[in-house]
Amino acid sequence: NITKPTVIIVFGGNGDLTKRKIIPALYNLFLENRLPEKFAIIGTSRTEFKDQKYRDLLLDGINEFSRTGKAKKEDWAKFSEKITYQASNIKDVGSYNEFADKISDYKKEWKEDISTLYYCAVSPDLFCTIAENVSKSKLENNRETTRMIIEKPFGRDLESAKTLNAKLLTIFDEKQIYRIDHYLGKEVVQNVMAFRFANTIMEPLWNRTHIEHVQISVTEKIGVEDRGSYFDNAGILRDMIQNHLLQLLCIIAMEPPINFDADLVRDRKVEVLKAIRKIVPGSVDSMAVRGQYGSGWVEGKEVPAYRDELDVKPDSNTETYAAMKFYVDNWRWQGIPFYLRTGKRLFKSDSHIIIQFKEVPHNMFQNQERNIPKANRLIISIQPDMAIKFQLESKTPGLEMTLNTVDMVFDYSGKTKGDSPEAYETLLLDVISGDQTLFMRADQVEAAWEVVMPILDYWENNKNADFPNYPANSWGPENADALIAKDGFHWINLPDK
Ligand code: BG6
Repeated sequence: NITKPTVIIVFGGNGDLTKRKIIPALYNLFLENRLPEKFAIIGTSRTEFKDQKYRDLLLDGINEFSRTGKAKKEDWAKFSEKITYQASNIKDVGSYNEFADKISDYKKEWKEDISTLYYCAVSPDLFCTIAENVSKSKLENNRETTRMIIEKPFGRDLESAKTLNAKLLTIFDEKQIYRIDHYLGKEVVQNVMAFRFANTIMEPLWNRTHIEHVQISVTEKIGVEDRGSYFDNAGILRDMIQNHLLQLLCIIAMEPPINFDADLVRDRKVEVLKAIRKIVPGSVDSMAVRGQYGSGWVEGKEVPAYRDELDVKPDSNTETYAAMKFYVDNWRWQGIPFYLRTGKRLFKSDSHIIIQFKEVPHNMFQNQERNIPKANRLIISIQPDMAIKFQLESKTPGLEMTLNTVDMVFDYSGKTKGDSPEAYETLLLDVISGDQTLFMRADQVEAAWEVVMPILDYWENNKNADFPNYPANSWGPENADALIAKDGFHWINLPDK
């Protein structure tokens, strides 16, 4: 119930995620009147701040990162009243009792029961500490109204993910845990569900009979920036594929759920993960390719090789690029390859999904000038462009029967540009209203780890002697092209709009 008074405690209240994403998202929800009237944010970290100083810091974050631009004075004044700050020692139950006192003041003031959200915007090794201290303290842990929000990484491998889930589940019910994969909150990603399941014309085509292959591509121009110490211990397979890209694959491949019930939707996704053909160690090299960026030039500036980045080991074996091929062994997808690729310091930042359809069974245009119909393609652009585009064959207007590829486009820009909520707005609103559909369930996280573990293990045990193997500002290592070319296809890089 969205009118229920809510208090959110943000652990890591002075961190990057809070300033860039969490607070701007809550602010925009506030501007759209989506927050409960009785709403409070308690920021916390080790550092001492006065409330006012803390609010100023958050305002800087909004002014820099919010999609709605700089905050208006009157709006900020109203919103910032809801924010207070309390320094804490995350490892000490005493701090949690102080939060509890603060919350009971709100309760007295509001004269109502409230929902309490614990947002762990902190390093993952503190998730369990926070959970334990919540349970030991006077803070509320009510099955219906207390929620715990955590951010990936959920473990470093299958083992540690299981340990983390098991530990959290001794304190909270699954229904109370909101594991964020922010890709699921992206506007176009959510639209894939509508596109597939709210149209009759998609379903008959959405299978191995008509689809030749699928490409899921998330390329980034940036390098590891200041996250070297996290990233060097993770690598892109853990950072992007285990979560974001596999979740995109699930949305494309899943069977229609009966309705939008959170568990029914998540059951369908787990089924996809379980149907993914296991990659055996001996076949990793033919199914997956890794890369690490070297130095190069980006927009006239020289950029360092990955191994020269801050907090990265000079002989690091960590991959900054990965491409792989999966098969989903079920009735719908048998034999259809799903190609995934993602990497840092690539030529362009672009996230998209391509559904490549098969060619027409017979070419009746043989005597025409442009006489081979191209296979249809559905392009789902997630970012920076937001669009869903069908590429169809058509007659070029004129006296000849000449074929031409035309686009049928649903373009978000113009209609909704800047108006589209950011992923975090969607996700935070869902937490506040208690809807888990877009959050990762424990078994979903574990099933995703199961998919990638053979590749992770193989890569960890077999160092890559070629690193670095792609220059900054390129499309990645050459053997990634070979991975897809040996099946007769190529990576599709979308042109700029
Ligand atoms: C995060 C990864 O989950 O997603 C980052 O840890 C990555 O390495 C980011 O840069 C990409 O997200 P987006 O929304 O910018 O595509």
